[in-house]
Amino acid sequence: MRSIKDELNLKQKKILLRLDLNVPLDNDRITDTTRIDKILPTIKYLLKNDAKIIILSHVGRPKGRIVNELSLKPICENLKKKLNVNIKLITKSLKEIDSSDLFIDQDEKIVILENLRFYQEEEENNIEFAKHLARLADIYVNDAFSCSHRAHASIFEITKFLPSFAGLQLNLEIDALNKITSKIKRPVTCIIGGSKISSKINIIKNLIPKFDNIVIVGGMANNVLKYKGFNIGKSIQEANCDQIIKEIFYLSEKNNCKIVYPEDVTVGKDLNGSAKIKDVNKVSEDELILDIGPKTIQTVNNLIEKSETILWNGPAGYFENPNFAKGSLKIANKIVEKNKSNTIYSVAGGGDTVALLNRIGVTNNFNFVSTAGGAFLEYLEGKELPGIKALN
Ligand code: 3PG
Repeated sequence: MRSIKDELNLKQKKILLRLDLNVPLDNDRITDTTRIDKILPTIKYLLKNDAKIIILSHVGRPKGRIVNELSLKPICENLKKKLNVNIKLITKSLKEIDSSDLFIDQDEKIVILENLRFYQEEEENNIEFAKHLARLADIYVNDAFSCSHRAHASIFEITKFLPSFAGLQLNLEIDALNKITSKIKRPVTCIIGGSKISSKINIIKNLIPKFDNIVIVGGMANNVLKYKGFNIGKSIQEANCDQIIKEIFYLSEKNNCKIVYPEDVTVGKDLNGSAKIKDVNKVSEDELILDIGPKTIQTVNNLIEKSETILWNGPAGYFENPNFAKGSLKIANKIVEKNKSNTIYSVAGGGDTVALLNRIGVTNNFNFVSTAGGAFLEYLEGKELPGIKALN
């Protein structure tokens, strides 16, 4: 895999820079800027080498439709301030845009194209869409490790049409994860939470042989509870997961990997509501499971206590509402306590997990924090990610 540092002549070259600027947004407000902050060195490097930068990114999952709330506008504003340069957001359709729409002003050095996922061709890995984007530039750079598990047009297909390189942050993340996976100390516990059930549930099967304990919290735990016959009320869940959950439990026994899921939960009537602790068999039809309960927190923390390595992706609950943040906070604090006494090696990954750690100011008390969520888990599975394969 060639790094952008290997390309010696960048002067006046147009670079298509694929980033993951999929930051958490509350209306127009960015609630955590980690993913922006981490790619600043790549942009600065390209600017120092007199390149012209065309930034590509997605935000959220608009599924091929234009969703104004998922515009890159607030991200463009944030980048402008951080870099202290003028950056134009180009809103023209990505399917119609051509070179004459970019860098109209000679002094312009950076432009951002609007959300890639406003066009279904992106997720379809459409060859024509990739070719069309490639025509805008001389060189392609992927600095979006956290999207590299997606075989999408701007990650995969595009590399067929331009000399392609890895960005600085992508290299850094891969080096760190390689180091971690090559000298992992057992017992190792993996905590998987968050709300992206469909992306993660299939990964668990492949993680089972590698880990001693897998803790399932967040949205995915709802599917497990439902499989076990409990009522989960109005909680988020994914359809048709019973077969995969059956396999997860079968494989966990075969491989001696303990699966932990909630024994009690914290429920609410809606996301902004107040919290009530309940045993898992007491959830009613009009309630949502929004966090784990105290007994589960204790079980998870006992496991962390006995672990030498902890890998964590995805919060335990809807931590944006403090009433449902306790599970995630107690887990974070337990890991930090063990980290301070040097009795655990801790790695956390994913946009929401990083936002949570930043919010409580403990990011530096983890051995490594990855910006990637799904990509982080797939890398742990031992898979070659499509984005990395394409660069190779
Ligand atoms: C992420 O947030 O993990 C990346 O931006 C990928 O997002 P996706 O799961 O919607 O593909």
